[in-house]
Amino acid sequence: MVIPKNRRTKAEIWAVWWKNGYPPYFGKAINSVNIIGIHVIIDNTVLDLNKQKVLSFNRTLDMQHGILKREFSIETDKGIINVVAERFVSLAEKELLAISYTINSSYEANIILKPYLDANVHNLDSNYDETFWEMLGEFEIEESMAILTKTKENPFGAPRFTVAAAMSCWAEGLVCNKTFSKSGYVEMEYSGIIKPNIPVTLEKFSLIFTDRDHAEDALIPRSTRAASRARQVGYSELKEKHISQWLGRWHDADVEIEGDDAAQQGIRFNLFHLLSTYSGEDPRLNIGPKGFTGEKYGGATYWDTEAYCLPVYMSISGQDVAKQLLIYRHIQLPEAYINAQAQGLKGALFPMVTFTGLECHNEWEITFEEIHRNGAMVYAIYNYTHYTGKTDYILNEGFDVICGVARFYADRVHFSKNKNKYMIHGVTGPNEYENNINNNWYTNRLASWCLELFINLCKKVDSSKLKEHDISESELALMNDIITNMYYCEDKELNIFIQHDTFMDKDLMPVSDIPENERPINQNWSWDKVLRSCFIKQADVLQGLYFFNHLYDNETIKRNFDFYEPMTVHESSLSPCVHSILAAQIGYQDKAVEMYMRTSRLDLDNINNDTDDGLHITSMAGSWLSIVQGFSGMRNINELSFAPFLPKEWKSYSFKINYRDNILKVYVTSENVHFELIRGEGLSFKVFDKEYTLKDTLKISLKQ
Ligand code: BGC
Repeated sequence: MVIPKNRRTKAEIWAVWWKNGYPPYFGKAINSVNIIGIHVIIDNTVLDLNKQKVLSFNRTLDMQHGILKREFSIETDKGIINVVAERFVSLAEKELLAISYTINSSYEANIILKPYLDANVHNLDSNYDETFWEMLGEFEIEESMAILTKTKENPFGAPRFTVAAAMSCWAEGLVCNKTFSKSGYVEMEYSGIIKPNIPVTLEKFSLIFTDRDHAEDALIPRSTRAASRARQVGYSELKEKHISQWLGRWHDADVEIEGDDAAQQGIRFNLFHLLSTYSGEDPRLNIGPKGFTGEKYGGATYWDTEAYCLPVYMSISGQDVAKQLLIYRHIQLPEAYINAQAQGLKGALFPMVTFTGLECHNEWEITFEEIHRNGAMVYAIYNYTHYTGKTDYILNEGFDVICGVARFYADRVHFSKNKNKYMIHGVTGPNEYENNINNNWYTNRLASWCLELFINLCKKVDSSKLKEHDISESELALMNDIITNMYYCEDKELNIFIQHDTFMDKDLMPVSDIPENERPINQNWSWDKVLRSCFIKQADVLQGLYFFNHLYDNETIKRNFDFYEPMTVHESSLSPCVHSILAAQIGYQDKAVEMYMRTSRLDLDNINNDTDDGLHITSMAGSWLSIVQGFSGMRNINELSFAPFLPKEWKSYSFKINYRDNILKVYVTSENVHFELIRGEGLSFKVFDKEYTLKDTLKISLKQ
């Protein structure tokens, strides 16, 4: 990895805004070509559930097999029409979406089905009718149709890419004798007379190919060929292959809960979405807070990935999958140097919001202030190393990242002559309900910890690495000084860490004092009132105690939890899981379960009244963490250990983890915890501080 030394080009571009250092744009993913559409016309009337008399409607998400099914009946002047529509995005064929659309009529009817592809799409928050696709052409090749589009030119130098969408269809009993196309739109027309009670099915196979994976001139031939091939294979065989892949994904990932259906449905719903969103095949991809289920957060990557998602994928999908997430950041390290440079700082600043590695969010409190995100990158590498026991990554690519982050923090601190301490001013901690604060305990602690890790690693890496990064003794001495003399806000009397310099001067009160009709406060109060209040959006000091759990005792965690949790409104979806895990650790089992239910059913029950913005994909990882790190008490820094309990309302729960080439099943009942080695050579771990070695099975009583 060559670290840019005097690279100013992109940083210079950033000086275009009215205050230097801001990125010139907000980045967002644009909506894809619509490949799911089918127009349905029955006896000259367009099928429209808004207008017709609907007798029944049922939509089912089969999470085990990855199939979405819609069934409905409508009544017309002549009788009843039943429709069963099923679709899946194939796990077996990366680019494929398959739809099966069945119509059954109680009377003879004239049916027209028009499957189409449409690139004339908008984003919900685009300006007026602004679109993002430039249409390059429509194609009809044998039994397939396709459109070719390219993202429009933009003044920000964002990379453009070309996309081909192709489709091919099949309908027994209907004929396709007409096609239609206009700019960015193609359509096939299948028509015929259907007999009473004899169902007719249209199968539609759509594919999206991009020039990220294929040469631009191969996009149309390859995508149309793939569409025709899918048509020949047919829906049922493709569905079987897809299902078998899903069963494979569930095999090691499933969490089973007995005795509480709502809790069971919650975790499976969360795991289904995590497994659908990321599979780790491509290090250029990452996980957005909403995945691709909604436009909020723009499809970009946040610190959520490292802080919440990585430990889950590491356990349920394997270490290679998790490693891809680390590599994603390493690939983007040159851009992280540009981000720091744009702020006039040394080292590397990983972005709060990004697609390319460049920061693409321009709100000062996020862009400049939430510098805690940088430490999450380092923590993820550290966590991965402890979990896998493999040091290769941290001593090579990981070291590059940690070096950049350490240099950034060492430059971002300043020395206060007044207090003879190093300080970090003008930050926003994870609690975004306060901005521009000084000496956020979490940020200072994390920065100092990153420096400490970096100094230790310098003693372990190959000397060529030190040369490559030009690391000098004086630089390390300064970092050491920062570690020794970092300023931390603490309240000696309460014996707790304080969120930042002036937190204790606020009008402190519990969340229970807020009238019910004023919550969530971010939807009811002015932003200014939110910022001046003591209410905490998400774990902040507690986020630090969660990361550095191995460095603090339970009494310290308890004192801080008791102080901060009553003031926490949990209006970030990332909040309840951290509280669930810490509550479980300090013996607040009911609180731990309450927080688990809140995180795992957040979208199913629309708890924060915002599910229509999209699902909270990254916080879904928190549901798994609540069970595994919370209820079973799994920890993996320095050693693997467990301290399980069974929630009162449950009969049992079980999960598997993939730990150092072993697949381990953990099954907890009210009486015992059972460990079973499903694959691997065997391993040692602690349960309630006692050492065990697992070769096949182990049963340990919880009644000691
Ligand atoms: C949280 C951030 C998080 C973002 C995306 C915000 O509400 O405060 O910590 O990164 O959502 O999930």
